[in-house]
Amino acid sequence: MRAAVVHTYGEPEGVVVEEIDRHVVLAPGTARVAVRAAAVNYPDLLRIADTYQVSIPLPFVPGSEFSGTVVDVAPDVGNVRVGDAVIGVTTHGAFAEETVLEAWRLTRLPAGIDWRQAAAFGVTYTTCYHALRTFAHVRPDNWVVVLGAAGGIGLAAVDIAVAMGTRVLAAASSEEKLAVARAAGAEATVNYATEDLKKRIKEITGAGADVVLDPVGGPAAEQSLRALRWGGRYVVVGFASGEIPRIPLNLVLLKGVVITGFENRTIMTHLPEVAPKHRAEVFDLLATGRLRPRIGGVYPLDDVARALREVADRRAIGKILVDVAASPVATPIAVEEP
Ligand SMILES: NC(=O)c1ccc[n+]([C@@H]2O[C@H](COP(=O)([O-])OP(=O)(O)OC[C@H]3O[C@@H](n4cnc5c(N)ncnc54)[C@H](OP(=O)(O)O)[C@@H]3O)[C@@H](O)[C@H]2O)c1
Repeated sequence: MRAAVVHTYGEPEGVVVEEIDRHVVLAPGTARVAVRAAAVNYPDLLRIADTYQVSIPLPFVPGSEFSGTVVDVAPDVGNVRVGDAVIGVTTHGAFAEETVLEAWRLTRLPAGIDWRQAAAFGVTYTTCYHALRTFAHVRPDNWVVVLGAAGGIGLAAVDIAVAMGTRVLAAASSEEKLAVARAAGAEATVNYATEDLKKRIKEITGAGADVVLDPVGGPAAEQSLRALRWGGRYVVVGFASGEIPRIPLNLVLLKGVVITGFENRTIMTHLPEVAPKHRAEVFDLLATGRLRPRIGGVYPLDDVARALREVADRRAIGKILVDVAASPVATPIAVEEP
């Protein structure tokens, strides 16, 4: 089958598309999926460069999020069946015609969801829903500030916050990006490349923001923290700017704010009482048409390096996808006992 392969850690251009052997034997608990579409996530770049928290041994197939059809399952798998339409979130392996992974990483798709929108949903929407619901406890009358509001996380956050009935202030670095955030339902926008972010948030919200969702870090972090109202909540999601902010803790004391953060990858383990319930809620919002993942670009598997480059160069608006089904789809092969 054809797959994107990392032979040397580094830049997206080092990822090559080539024929590789399929897994012939399915280990217990695993499933084989014919990938339809796969989404590029910022952490894919970190894994390719070997700067992510967890190193992946070479050679490996990158890609951590996909939609597709189950074509094989190990005999002990019960949560999915051959023929199911699924989405999956994993560490690597998605930029390929087929991927084999632990079946618990797969979720059956609600009926009627487009393959591409499905591929763009699993990481960003579940992360943002947990950020807003599980950690920020947003209420419908809240002002929610979203930094990097036209990125994958940012647009998902805008979409969810609007669906929750909150007032959304979208902050991003260009007018083009802000227009997309407005189209997604943001009530107000601030260009933090040209405007004073703290001043503008206070002008727009009056008493200050209730919640800041931050996937960017860098200088915008302290500015937006300073624009929170007393008792506001600041949720750290990521550091796409490459700069981890150092926050003066006197601000926490003076403003009574809560600064919190989490990793989507481990939330089910750390919050088993609430995380699965909240995860089910966001899937329900998708299934009932109240969320609309936005696709910023679609590339064939052969152009995976260009897809990764879009995100690396800060050009992506919404999710960038690799349409694997544009290549010949793998045919099912028999399950063999390990
Ligand atoms: N906590 C979790 O579990 C979790 C889950 C998923 C992702 N994340 C993290 O969230 C962050 C954002 O992910 P994403 O998928 O939304 O990425 P993305 O689509 O690339 O968006 C990131 C945004 O950050 C801004 N940015 C500022 N400086 C940048 C730079 N030097 N390079 C790239 N972008 C820059 C850009 O907006 P402007 O140009 O408007 O500033 C861009 O739209 C990443 O750090 C990722 O690792 C965390």
